[in-house]
Amino acid sequence: MSVSTAAVDRPVRAPLAAPLPVLGRDVTVPLVTGGEVTYAALDYAASAPALQRVWDDVAAYAPYYGSVHRGAGHLSRLSTDLFENARRTVGEFLDCRAGDQVLFTRSTTDSLNLLAAALPDGCEVFVFETEHHASLLPWRGARVTFLDAPDSPRTAVTVLERALADREPYGPALVCVTGASNVTGELWPVRELAAAAHAHGARIVLDAAQLAPHHAVSVRDLEVDWVAFSGHKLYAPFGSGVLAGRADWLGEAEPYLAGGGASRRVTRGADGGVGVEWHDGAARHEAGSPNVIGAYAIASACRALTEAGFEELAAREEALVRTVRDGLADVPEVRFLSLFGDDAPRVGVLSFVVEGWNSSHFAAALSAEYGIGVRDGLFCAHPLLRRLLGGDGQARGGCGAADNAIRVSFGAGTPDEHVERFVRAVRELVRDGARWSYRTVDGRCVPDVSA
Ligand SMILES: Cc1ncc(COP(=O)(O)O)c(C=O)c1O
Repeated sequence: MSVSTAAVDRPVRAPLAAPLPVLGRDVTVPLVTGGEVTYAALDYAASAPALQRVWDDVAAYAPYYGSVHRGAGHLSRLSTDLFENARRTVGEFLDCRAGDQVLFTRSTTDSLNLLAAALPDGCEVFVFETEHHASLLPWRGARVTFLDAPDSPRTAVTVLERALADREPYGPALVCVTGASNVTGELWPVRELAAAAHAHGARIVLDAAQLAPHHAVSVRDLEVDWVAFSGHKLYAPFGSGVLAGRADWLGEAEPYLAGGGASRRVTRGADGGVGVEWHDGAARHEAGSPNVIGAYAIASACRALTEAGFEELAAREEALVRTVRDGLADVPEVRFLSLFGDDAPRVGVLSFVVEGWNSSHFAAALSAEYGIGVRDGLFCAHPLLRRLLGGDGQARGGCGAADNAIRVSFGAGTPDEHVERFVRAVRELVRDGARWSYRTVDGRCVPDVSA
């Protein structure tokens, strides 16, 4: 069996020549050692900056903002059209099949909780222990099988196949899998996992929170049943997310939220109670006033990324990943975290620990002394981090709790200089140590300005 290590086809085009313009690209921040530098936002995996294009589109629409679906006025009708067009744009972006539904939610977390609330009775859920908590935790009402962390994409497929083959009785089942890890950035073999799920009568939902900002995601090609992602990781931080895919389970389920918009007809019964007839379609699970700006921003980002070209974007990002890997290859104190091996294909997300350093201390020094924003912690994937860090976690030193890691992540808006500065900073910190002293305040490691 051949297993593709990428969820999508590998880029073959030349890298995009320059980053896409994003908000905040000229923001400067003070250094604790004196002076100011342009802020290097290297925490895209948590939240990416807004694309300038998204911001401009939202600003151009804002004066025309109006109530969606219920208003009779001109601007209400315009906003309703815009909202429904955004749904169509997202459907095209995800290459949805005829009959698939696109629902606007608040985020990936919200999307997966919505799907969890729509599972048919008796549905079993299969999820790798390596998942982000948003994929790991929503399935509380179902029987959940947690699959052991695989050490290769091929093992992932084998582990899933075995688990599905063992299940009894043969009722509805759902597999939830990430497209790209928010910890290691590694790409998962989504197409093969989908084929395995379907071969055993199960369905599959793709958590594309980290994949969609970096690669084209085709529901049709990957043959996934649903896909979820968040606007704020896709350069559209206006509070919306997406769940797209098969309509049947969603249509048969009780509305995710009860309220206006989801209800077609509400009556007062003779018994004094209230009867309700729910909508079909997307409206069923979109009760309340829709976030039209959030949906419009996502659609704008979908258009901007598609026009820039995912192959070119991915090729540029691969070059940035290489800059990090090559630039730190001769620094033995830096250990990158990986499930599938250091050379596994990945998006622009890398986690690491530094021997002799506490990760919070290291991240605080990157920020205070170099103006670089990374993340430290367990990245909402505690079982995976504990496995990757091993028994004792990383070496202690400096302030803050031990047993966590540092994550650097980037994307379409990242200039080369940010990544080069990061490499230089890591090398200098490892070689010379921090130039400032740090202390813990409210659980965070911060520069000691009283020193
Ligand atoms: C892989 C993955 N899935 C799900 C989520 C949850 O996304 P959100 O916080 O936007 O709901 C994240 C967020 O970091 C993630 O990285």
